[in-house]
Amino acid sequence: MSAEKDRWSSKAYTSAASFVPQLTTTVVSYLSAQPHERILDIGCGDGPLTAQIAAACAPGAVLGLDASESMIATAQEQHGPGSEHGQENLEFKVHDCTQLAQCADAMEVQGGGWDKVFSNAALHWILRSPSTRMNVLADIYACLKPGGTFVFEMGGKGNVEAVHAATIAALVAEGVDIVTAREACPWFFPSQEWMRAALGEVGFEVCKVEVEYRPTRCTERAGDGSGGLEGWVRLMCAAMLEAAEEGRREKVVRRVVQTLESVVTREEDGSMWLGYVRLRGVARKPEDV
Ligand code: BEZ
Repeated sequence: MSAEKDRWSSKAYTSAASFVPQLTTTVVSYLSAQPHERILDIGCGDGPLTAQIAAACAPGAVLGLDASESMIATAQEQHGPGSEHGQENLEFKVHDCTQLAQCADAMEVQGGGWDKVFSNAALHWILRSPSTRMNVLADIYACLKPGGTFVFEMGGKGNVEAVHAATIAALVAEGVDIVTAREACPWFFPSQEWMRAALGEVGFEVCKVEVEYRPTRCTERAGDGSGGLEGWVRLMCAAMLEAAEEGRREKVVRRVVQTLESVVTREEDGSMWLGYVRLRGVARKPEDV
């Protein structure tokens, strides 16, 4: 569980970022889930990818963890045991992954119970705080069997840079001081070098850490006003928007969207593309530990 406010709504996520679980061919191929494996998915969101992994490793077991009650409720409803297309080898739990060691199910068999740990598009939130960052990586290591692998994809250095800059500038224009605006950023987008060193420090053998610049098309704005660039900003930047006084937040959203529109819109068809940078890797826990 998490004391953090749940800013996620699985409905808003589907409107604004339904592309996230769809752009995962490479990281899923690195995971290469095999029948009988036990796989832990960290920051599983509303679970479509977790369900795909569970199907691939059946009759093994998959546990998806996420701090958002809204996301886990949707995951249970759509993919959990007992749901229409649910799988018996798949379980979801609400848990704050910055505190993995406190999750008895994740650390079961006193740690070391999982063949693989997987994470897609979540570690940039989970590793945000410098005070828990290294513990998260150490706990992932502890969850794995000797010889087990950790496979991840997350935002890397420079990810959604224009959004980050536009949001800080809009907050400052609405009276937030620069230090507060910077500190309100809810993400950590590490470089390849940082990630390699951090994985090595907790004991992993790093098999690969790679970077891909992947401009990603925003969803269309839906009839109910959700989705599109604005929906993306409202959902993904929610923690930053809260740094402004309540009465000034709408103005911040408008400024951010107006600034971004001029940077991210393609002249040829009016589509809008955000500058996603993916950091992807595979690391192995040595056999002889
Ligand atoms: C990402 O998946 O890279 C991401 C999306 C939204 C905000 C921050 C990061």
